[in-house]
Amino acid sequence: MFNRNKNIPAPPPTPEAAPGDPVFHHAIAVASGKGGVGKSTVAVNLAVALAQRGARVGLLDADIYGPNIPTMMGLETLPPARDNKITPAEAYGVKVISIGFLVKPGQPLIWRGPMLHSAIRQFVQDVNWGEIDYLIVDLPPGTGDASLSVAQTLPLTGGVIVTLPQQVSLDDARRGLEMFRELEVPLFGVVENMSYLELPDGSRMDIFGGGGGERLAREAGIPFIGAVPMDPSVRQGGDSGKPVVISHPESPVAKALSAIADDVLAKINASFQQNEAIPINIRG
Ligand SMILES: Nc1ncnc2c1ncn2[C@@H]1O[C@H](COP(=O)(O)OP(=O)(O)O)[C@@H](O)[C@H]1O
Ligand SMILES: [Mg+2]
Repeated sequence: MFNRNKNIPAPPPTPEAAPGDPVFHHAIAVASGKGGVGKSTVAVNLAVALAQRGARVGLLDADIYGPNIPTMMGLETLPPARDNKITPAEAYGVKVISIGFLVKPGQPLIWRGPMLHSAIRQFVQDVNWGEIDYLIVDLPPGTGDASLSVAQTLPLTGGVIVTLPQQVSLDDARRGLEMFRELEVPLFGVVENMSYLELPDGSRMDIFGGGGGERLAREAGIPFIGAVPMDPSVRQGGDSGKPVVISHPESPVAKALSAIADDVLAKINASFQQNEAIPINIRG
């Protein structure tokens, strides 16, 4: 488990980037207090929406215990390696890396700390990412070692917390917020997923309660990024490898997810002039 009292060691001096090394301009982590709240769904649709806007986007599935990103992106295998480096898979204009490409479905994933750390480092460093404007990182749920490894491997521009509206999810999400604070990762804000279900008569049903995400954001003093409604096409799209921003771009849920991408872009652009974006050097 992530030790909240542990001081994060200062990164060693950054080595000069060698030719062929990946270049990341921004890395954005998507986290949640627990699984099943739609973290990967938000990560996938955020990545695809950013690619739809013309950005060079990478999607790093760091959820090493539940690597769902390949399925959600309709990908099965990695292309052959080149120059001793892993070639990322690609779908919908997004380059994708996941441990899910390297293990058989159903195979249990047991990681020791150092193994986990070196796997995450390899996925950043030993991959032919090329130049990436936005690397979206799907963190495992909770506050474990993988998140620490990601934050130690590459500086994160910001973090997004995904929660459901109900109290138990909020309690967990609060721990996720604290984790980003400990890791000194700026928080872009809170996304509330499965906020409501739109009924055929147009009325809204709050399945998991209402307004929890906004309350969490307010209490934590960070922005509320947006609410994403429930829609069966999200689940269908996830299972069939076609993210809802591609399969049903005009649906309210796709529009909500696209608006989240615009909001994150605006927050990045507010802090960095796009041309000045300092490429992220991988930490040693
Ligand atoms: N807004 C939504 N409406 C309907 N189903 C959703 C929504 N968000 C996520 N899901 C579904 O809920 C399940 C869990 O989502 P997922 O993104 O895998 O969560 P996590 O990564 O947090 O474990 C998936 O089957 C997904 O398709
Ligand atoms: Mg997931």
